[in-house]
Amino acid sequence: MSEKKHNVSRRQFLTYTLTGVGGFMAAGVILPMARFAVDPVLKAGAESDMYAVAEVADLTEEPQRFDFSYEQVDAWYQSEVTETAWIYREGDNIVALSPTCTHLGCTVNWDANEDYPDQFFCPCHFGRFEKDGTNIAGTPPTEPLHKYVTEVRDGTVYLGTAEPQI
Ligand code: FES
Repeated sequence: MSEKKHNVSRRQFLTYTLTGVGGFMAAGVILPMARFAVDPVLKAGAESDMYAVAEVADLTEEPQRFDFSYEQVDAWYQSEVTETAWIYREGDNIVALSPTCTHLGCTVNWDANEDYPDQFFCPCHFGRFEKDGTNIAGTPPTEPLHKYVTEVRDGTVYLGTAEPQI
């Protein structure tokens, strides 16, 4: 009967031991850093959130201003964002428009200039939009106001992102 001897030299023993301990310690440092770097990417789904903004019963055929806030995580920075929507009813339809002028980003208001009643008016360069957000020819904006994705649940209007109408 032959018996194989497995001799491990002191040098090999130290090499294996130090490699194992070193690897363990490196993993303890590297894994939290990797998780920290990747974590915001894993949470990227938050953009598809819908926010409760208004009650259907409060809406009229006249656009009304509604402000709403939500927590936004931008990579590692968390902040509260407040946005505005001009919302009105059109039969069974609910229309929610962004107040951001599509010219250079000023804020538009409904029925704000007595020379142009029943229009959205931008005071920065006198941009104007129809009630449905269509930009009026001859004024600086070249595209309609963006429209929010809307959803009604149990009598409450939820808004998603504001998207271009063209
Ligand atoms: S920013 Fe509104 S018209 Fe220029």
